[in-house]
Amino acid sequence: MSHETKRYFIGRLLIFALLLCAVCGNVYAEDSMRPVSYTAYTSLYWLREAGVPEAAEFSNAIGDNKVSLAKNAIPNYDELAPVNKLYIEMRYAALNEYITGNNYQNNFDIACGFAPRSIAMARQGRNFVGTDFKQSITEVSSIVSECVPVKQQKRISYIVADATDGAGMMRAADKLDGRICITMDGLMMYLSRQEQAAVLQSIREILKKHGGAYVTSDFSAREFVKASAMVVYDDTDAQRIYRNSAEMYEKTASADFDKAFFSNAEEAVQFIEAQGLKVKRIPLFQSPVSIYSAKAFDLEQYQKLNGLKNELFLWEITID
Ligand SMILES: C[S@@+](CC[C@H](N)C(=O)[O-])C[C@H]1O[C@@H](n2cnc3c(N)ncnc32)[C@H](O)[C@@H]1O
Repeated sequence: MSHETKRYFIGRLLIFALLLCAVCGNVYAEDSMRPVSYTAYTSLYWLREAGVPEAAEFSNAIGDNKVSLAKNAIPNYDELAPVNKLYIEMRYAALNEYITGNNYQNNFDIACGFAPRSIAMARQGRNFVGTDFKQSITEVSSIVSECVPVKQQKRISYIVADATDGAGMMRAADKLDGRICITMDGLMMYLSRQEQAAVLQSIREILKKHGGAYVTSDFSAREFVKASAMVVYDDTDAQRIYRNSAEMYEKTASADFDKAFFSNAEEAVQFIEAQGLKVKRIPLFQSPVSIYSAKAFDLEQYQKLNGLKNELFLWEITID
Protein backbone atom coordinates (compact mmCIF):
# COMPACT_ATOMS: atom_id res chain seq x y z
CA MET A 1 0.00 0.00 0.00
CA SER A 2 1.38 3.37 -0.99
CA HIS A 3 2.06 6.09 1.54
CA GLU A 4 -0.77 8.20 0.03
CA THR A 5 -3.33 5.36 0.32
CA LYS A 6 -2.31 4.71 3.94
CA ARG A 7 -2.81 8.41 4.78
CA TYR A 8 -6.20 8.35 3.04
CA PHE A 9 -7.39 5.35 5.09
CA ILE A 10 -6.06 6.72 8.37
CA GLY A 11 -7.83 10.02 7.62
CA ARG A 12 -11.13 8.20 6.92
CA LEU A 13 -10.71 6.12 10.10
CA LEU A 14 -10.20 9.27 12.18
CA ILE A 15 -13.31 10.93 10.72
CA PHE A 16 -15.34 7.77 11.43
CA ALA A 17 -14.03 7.64 15.01
CA LEU A 18 -14.92 11.32 15.55
CA LEU A 19 -18.44 10.78 14.17
CA LEU A 20 -18.93 7.76 16.42
CA CYS A 21 -17.84 9.81 19.46
CA ALA A 22 -20.24 12.62 18.52
CA VAL A 23 -23.17 10.20 18.08
CA CYS A 24 -22.38 8.35 21.31
CA GLY A 25 -21.95 11.64 23.14
CA ASN A 26 -25.37 12.82 21.99
CA VAL A 27 -27.06 9.56 22.88
CA TYR A 28 -25.52 9.80 26.32
CA ALA A 29 -26.60 13.42 26.79
CA GLU A 30 -30.15 12.56 25.68
CA ASP A 31 -30.50 9.45 27.77
CA SER A 32 -28.64 10.18 30.98
CA MET A 33 -30.34 11.90 33.86
CA ARG A 34 -29.24 15.48 34.50
CA PRO A 35 -28.13 16.34 38.04
CA VAL A 36 -31.13 18.67 38.52
CA SER A 37 -33.53 15.82 37.75
CA TYR A 38 -32.37 13.91 40.84
CA THR A 39 -33.98 16.64 42.95
CA ALA A 40 -37.33 15.26 41.76
CA TYR A 41 -36.67 12.04 43.69
CA THR A 42 -35.86 14.13 46.76
CA SER A 43 -39.11 16.11 46.41
CA LEU A 44 -41.16 12.92 46.10
CA TYR A 45 -39.35 11.46 49.07
CA TRP A 46 -40.21 14.46 51.31
CA LEU A 47 -43.81 14.44 50.13
CA ARG A 48 -44.11 10.76 50.97
CA GLU A 49 -42.47 11.24 54.37
CA ALA A 50 -44.87 14.11 55.05
CA GLY A 51 -47.68 11.57 54.73
CA VAL A 52 -49.27 12.65 51.43
CA PRO A 53 -51.07 9.42 50.38
CA GLU A 54 -50.64 9.78 46.60
CA ALA A 55 -46.90 10.38 47.11
CA ALA A 56 -46.65 6.99 48.82
CA GLU A 57 -48.47 5.41 45.86
CA PHE A 58 -46.11 7.03 43.35
CA SER A 59 -43.10 6.20 45.44
CA ASN A 60 -44.08 2.52 45.71
CA ALA A 61 -44.67 2.37 41.96
CA ILE A 62 -41.28 3.97 41.17
CA GLY A 63 -39.61 1.65 43.62
CA ASP A 64 -39.31 2.49 47.26
CA ASN A 65 -35.56 1.83 47.26
CA LYS A 66 -34.89 4.23 44.44
CA VAL A 67 -36.79 7.07 46.09
CA SER A 68 -35.31 6.33 49.51
CA LEU A 69 -31.80 6.69 48.06
CA ALA A 70 -32.36 10.39 48.65
CA LYS A 71 -32.17 9.78 52.40
CA ASN A 72 -28.55 8.60 52.29
CA ALA A 73 -27.52 11.79 50.50
CA ILE A 74 -29.04 14.03 53.17
CA PRO A 75 -26.63 15.14 55.89
CA ASN A 76 -28.18 16.12 59.28
CA TYR A 77 -31.29 14.22 58.18
CA ASP A 78 -33.14 14.42 61.50
CA GLU A 79 -32.72 18.20 61.66
CA LEU A 80 -33.60 18.89 58.03
CA ALA A 81 -36.49 16.45 57.67
CA PRO A 82 -39.30 18.32 59.48
CA VAL A 83 -38.55 21.56 57.59
CA ASN A 84 -38.29 19.98 54.15
CA LYS A 85 -41.37 17.82 54.64
CA LEU A 86 -43.35 20.90 55.64
CA TYR A 87 -42.07 23.14 52.82
CA ILE A 88 -42.49 20.54 50.05
CA GLU A 89 -45.96 19.53 51.25
CA MET A 90 -47.10 23.16 51.64
CA ARG A 91 -45.99 24.20 48.15
CA TYR A 92 -47.59 21.08 46.61
CA ALA A 93 -50.84 21.51 48.56
CA ALA A 94 -51.05 25.27 47.89
CA LEU A 95 -51.02 24.79 44.11
CA ASN A 96 -53.51 21.92 44.30
CA GLU A 97 -55.83 24.06 46.40
CA TYR A 98 -55.49 26.97 43.95
CA ILE A 99 -56.52 24.74 41.02
CA THR A 100 -59.49 23.32 42.91
CA GLY A 101 -60.53 26.63 44.50
CA ASN A 102 -60.53 28.39 41.12
CA ASN A 103 -62.26 25.45 39.49
CA TYR A 104 -59.73 24.86 36.72
CA GLN A 105 -60.44 21.81 34.59
CA ASN A 106 -56.92 21.86 33.15
CA ASN A 107 -53.55 21.74 34.87
CA PHE A 108 -50.28 22.14 33.00
CA ASP A 109 -47.44 21.26 35.39
CA ILE A 110 -44.04 22.50 34.21
CA ALA A 111 -41.00 20.46 35.35
CA CYS A 112 -43.40 18.01 37.00
CA GLY A 113 -40.73 15.47 37.97
CA PHE A 114 -42.37 12.70 40.02
CA ALA A 115 -44.86 14.91 41.84
CA PRO A 116 -48.13 12.96 42.18
CA ARG A 117 -50.25 15.99 41.20
CA SER A 118 -51.35 14.05 38.10
CA ILE A 119 -53.19 11.44 40.15
CA ALA A 120 -54.60 14.04 42.56
CA MET A 121 -56.02 15.99 39.59
CA ALA A 122 -57.32 12.95 37.67
CA ARG A 123 -59.12 11.74 40.80
CA GLN A 124 -60.90 15.09 40.96
CA GLY A 125 -61.93 14.70 37.31
CA ARG A 126 -59.46 17.33 36.03
CA ASN A 127 -57.10 17.06 33.05
CA PHE A 128 -53.36 17.05 33.64
CA VAL A 129 -50.37 17.58 31.36
CA GLY A 130 -46.92 17.28 32.93
CA THR A 131 -43.68 18.24 31.19
CA ASP A 132 -40.06 17.57 32.05
CA PHE A 133 -36.87 16.15 30.52
CA LYS A 134 -37.00 12.80 28.71
CA GLN A 135 -35.60 10.66 31.53
CA SER A 136 -38.11 11.85 34.13
CA ILE A 137 -41.04 11.68 31.70
CA THR A 138 -40.17 8.13 30.61
CA GLU A 139 -40.01 6.99 34.22
CA VAL A 140 -43.09 8.81 35.48
CA SER A 141 -45.30 7.83 32.53
CA SER A 142 -44.46 4.17 33.05
CA ILE A 143 -45.86 4.13 36.62
CA VAL A 144 -49.15 6.00 36.24
CA SER A 145 -50.99 2.87 35.09
CA GLU A 146 -50.13 1.24 38.42
CA CYS A 147 -51.75 4.06 40.39
CA VAL A 148 -54.95 5.04 38.59
CA PRO A 149 -57.69 3.15 36.73
CA VAL A 150 -57.81 3.36 32.91
CA LYS A 151 -60.62 5.93 32.93
CA GLN A 152 -58.52 8.36 34.98
CA GLN A 153 -55.35 7.61 33.00
CA LYS A 154 -57.07 9.21 30.00
CA ARG A 155 -56.99 12.53 31.85
CA ILE A 156 -53.19 12.37 32.31
CA SER A 157 -50.51 13.12 29.70
CA TYR A 158 -46.79 13.31 30.21
CA ILE A 159 -44.84 15.09 27.50
CA VAL A 160 -41.12 15.67 27.05
CA ALA A 161 -40.52 19.42 26.84
CA ASP A 162 -37.67 21.63 27.94
CA ALA A 163 -39.31 24.50 29.81
CA THR A 164 -37.18 27.00 27.87
CA ASP A 165 -38.41 25.71 24.49
CA GLY A 166 -41.45 27.78 23.54
CA ALA A 167 -42.58 25.58 20.65
CA GLY A 168 -42.32 22.35 22.66
CA MET A 169 -44.17 23.90 25.58
CA MET A 170 -46.98 25.13 23.32
CA ARG A 171 -47.34 21.69 21.71
CA ALA A 172 -47.74 20.19 25.19
CA ALA A 173 -50.22 22.85 26.34
CA ASP A 174 -52.27 22.38 23.17
CA LYS A 175 -53.22 18.94 24.47
CA LEU A 176 -55.55 20.81 26.83
CA ASP A 177 -58.79 22.41 25.77
CA GLY A 178 -59.99 25.49 27.66
CA ARG A 179 -58.33 27.77 30.17
CA ILE A 180 -55.27 26.38 31.88
CA CYS A 181 -53.80 26.62 35.34
CA ILE A 182 -50.05 26.44 34.79
CA THR A 183 -48.21 25.24 37.89
CA MET A 184 -44.53 25.02 38.80
CA ASP A 185 -42.89 23.65 41.95
CA GLY A 186 -39.13 23.94 42.21
CA LEU A 187 -37.79 24.94 38.79
CA MET A 188 -36.88 28.64 38.66
CA MET A 189 -34.03 28.31 41.20
CA TYR A 190 -32.19 25.94 38.85
CA LEU A 191 -32.24 28.27 35.84
CA SER A 192 -30.13 31.22 34.69
CA ARG A 193 -31.82 34.63 34.20
CA GLN A 194 -31.88 34.03 30.45
CA GLU A 195 -33.56 30.65 30.89
CA GLN A 196 -36.04 32.09 33.40
CA ALA A 197 -36.97 34.75 30.83
CA ALA A 198 -37.43 32.08 28.12
CA VAL A 199 -39.72 30.06 30.41
CA LEU A 200 -41.80 33.17 31.20
CA GLN A 201 -42.06 33.95 27.48
CA SER A 202 -43.34 30.42 26.78
CA ILE A 203 -45.87 30.78 29.58
CA ARG A 204 -47.01 34.15 28.24
CA GLU A 205 -47.70 32.65 24.81
CA ILE A 206 -49.65 29.75 26.34
CA LEU A 207 -51.75 32.11 28.48
CA LYS A 208 -52.39 34.35 25.46
CA LYS A 209 -53.70 31.39 23.47
CA HIS A 210 -55.52 29.40 26.15
CA GLY A 211 -56.29 31.86 28.96
CA GLY A 212 -55.84 31.09 32.64
CA ALA A 213 -53.05 31.79 35.13
CA TYR A 214 -49.56 30.65 36.06
CA VAL A 215 -49.11 30.00 39.78
CA THR A 216 -45.95 29.19 41.65
CA SER A 217 -44.19 29.81 44.94
CA ASP A 218 -40.77 29.51 43.25
CA PHE A 219 -40.12 33.28 43.38
CA SER A 220 -40.58 33.17 47.17
CA ALA A 221 -38.74 29.87 47.69
CA ARG A 222 -36.00 31.30 49.91
CA GLU A 223 -38.43 33.09 52.23
CA PHE A 224 -40.80 30.10 52.14
CA VAL A 225 -38.12 27.61 53.28
CA LYS A 226 -36.92 30.07 55.96
CA ALA A 227 -40.49 30.56 57.19
CA SER A 228 -41.02 26.78 57.25
CA ALA A 229 -37.85 26.42 59.32
CA MET A 230 -39.19 29.05 61.71
CA VAL A 231 -42.40 27.09 62.21
CA VAL A 232 -40.37 24.11 63.42
CA TYR A 233 -37.39 25.76 65.16
CA ASP A 234 -36.53 29.01 66.93
CA ASP A 235 -35.05 31.85 64.84
CA THR A 236 -31.33 31.04 65.38
CA ASP A 237 -31.61 27.36 64.47
CA ALA A 238 -33.97 28.16 61.59
CA GLN A 239 -31.33 30.27 59.75
CA ARG A 240 -28.70 27.53 60.03
CA ILE A 241 -31.12 24.79 58.98
CA TYR A 242 -32.28 26.86 56.00
CA ARG A 243 -28.63 27.24 54.88
CA ASN A 244 -27.90 23.49 55.29
CA SER A 245 -31.01 22.63 53.37
CA ALA A 246 -30.19 24.99 50.49
CA GLU A 247 -26.64 23.57 50.32
CA MET A 248 -28.03 20.03 50.03
CA TYR A 249 -30.10 20.99 46.98
CA GLU A 250 -27.31 23.05 45.41
CA LYS A 251 -24.99 20.06 45.72
CA THR A 252 -27.48 17.56 44.29
CA ALA A 253 -28.32 19.77 41.31
CA SER A 254 -24.94 21.53 40.85
CA ALA A 255 -26.85 24.79 41.26
CA ASP A 256 -26.02 28.23 42.68
CA PHE A 257 -29.11 29.65 44.37
CA ASP A 258 -27.51 33.03 45.10
CA LYS A 259 -27.25 33.57 41.34
CA ALA A 260 -30.72 32.22 40.55
CA PHE A 261 -32.71 34.02 43.24
CA PHE A 262 -33.71 37.66 42.95
CA SER A 263 -32.40 39.86 45.74
CA ASN A 264 -35.94 40.79 46.75
CA ALA A 265 -39.55 40.38 45.68
CA GLU A 266 -39.67 43.77 43.91
CA GLU A 267 -36.77 42.76 41.65
CA ALA A 268 -38.58 39.52 40.76
CA VAL A 269 -41.83 41.41 40.06
CA GLN A 270 -39.99 43.82 37.72
CA PHE A 271 -38.37 40.91 35.89
CA ILE A 272 -41.71 39.13 35.41
CA GLU A 273 -43.43 42.35 34.29
CA ALA A 274 -40.63 42.98 31.79
CA GLN A 275 -41.70 39.71 30.09
CA GLY A 276 -45.19 41.17 29.53
CA LEU A 277 -46.85 39.45 32.50
CA LYS A 278 -48.81 40.74 35.51
CA VAL A 279 -48.10 39.58 39.05
CA LYS A 280 -50.27 39.34 42.13
CA ARG A 281 -48.87 37.90 45.35
CA ILE A 282 -51.56 35.98 47.24
CA PRO A 283 -51.77 33.86 50.43
CA LEU A 284 -50.65 30.26 50.13
CA PHE A 285 -54.14 29.07 50.98
CA GLN A 286 -57.54 30.67 50.43
CA SER A 287 -59.48 28.12 52.49
CA PRO A 288 -58.68 25.93 55.52
CA VAL A 289 -56.54 22.90 54.71
CA SER A 290 -54.98 20.28 56.92
CA ILE A 291 -51.31 19.57 56.49
CA TYR A 292 -50.11 16.00 57.06
CA SER A 293 -46.64 16.99 58.24
CA ALA A 294 -48.16 19.05 61.07
CA LYS A 295 -49.36 15.89 62.83
CA ALA A 296 -46.32 15.86 65.11
CA PHE A 297 -46.42 19.61 65.89
CA ASP A 298 -46.95 21.06 69.36
CA LEU A 299 -49.37 23.93 69.97
CA GLU A 300 -46.79 26.68 69.34
CA GLN A 301 -45.64 25.14 66.05
CA TYR A 302 -49.24 24.68 65.03
CA GLN A 303 -50.02 28.36 65.65
CA LYS A 304 -46.95 29.42 63.65
CA LEU A 305 -48.10 27.13 60.83
CA ASN A 306 -51.43 28.95 60.67
CA GLY A 307 -49.47 32.18 60.16
CA LEU A 308 -47.43 30.57 57.37
CA LYS A 309 -50.58 29.50 55.52
CA ASN A 310 -51.47 33.19 55.14
CA GLU A 311 -48.07 34.36 53.87
CA LEU A 312 -48.11 35.93 50.38
CA PHE A 313 -45.83 33.24 48.95
CA LEU A 314 -48.03 32.29 46.03
CA TRP A 315 -47.44 34.26 42.81
CA GLU A 316 -50.48 34.46 40.56
CA ILE A 317 -49.20 35.51 37.14
CA THR A 318 -51.48 36.46 34.26
CA ILE A 319 -51.37 38.44 31.04
CA ASP A 320 -54.15 40.95 31.78
C1 LIG B 1 -36.95 20.01 42.32
S1 LIG B 1 -37.50 19.00 40.99
C2 LIG B 1 -39.22 19.36 41.13
C3 LIG B 1 -40.07 18.32 40.54
C4 LIG B 1 -41.57 18.49 40.83
N1 LIG B 1 -42.08 19.72 40.30
C5 LIG B 1 -41.85 18.36 42.29
O1 LIG B 1 -42.23 19.34 42.94
O2 LIG B 1 -41.70 17.26 42.82
C6 LIG B 1 -36.99 19.95 39.57
C7 LIG B 1 -37.46 19.37 38.25
O3 LIG B 1 -37.16 20.31 37.22
C8 LIG B 1 -36.85 19.59 36.04
N2 LIG B 1 -36.17 20.52 35.12
C9 LIG B 1 -35.05 21.23 35.34
N3 LIG B 1 -34.76 22.02 34.28
C10 LIG B 1 -35.76 21.81 33.37
C11 LIG B 1 -36.04 22.33 32.08
N4 LIG B 1 -35.23 23.24 31.49
N5 LIG B 1 -37.13 21.89 31.44
C12 LIG B 1 -37.95 20.95 32.00
N6 LIG B 1 -37.74 20.43 33.23
C13 LIG B 1 -36.65 20.85 33.91
C14 LIG B 1 -36.00 18.45 36.57
O4 LIG B 1 -35.86 17.40 35.65
C15 LIG B 1 -36.78 18.08 37.83
O5 LIG B 1 -37.75 17.12 37.56
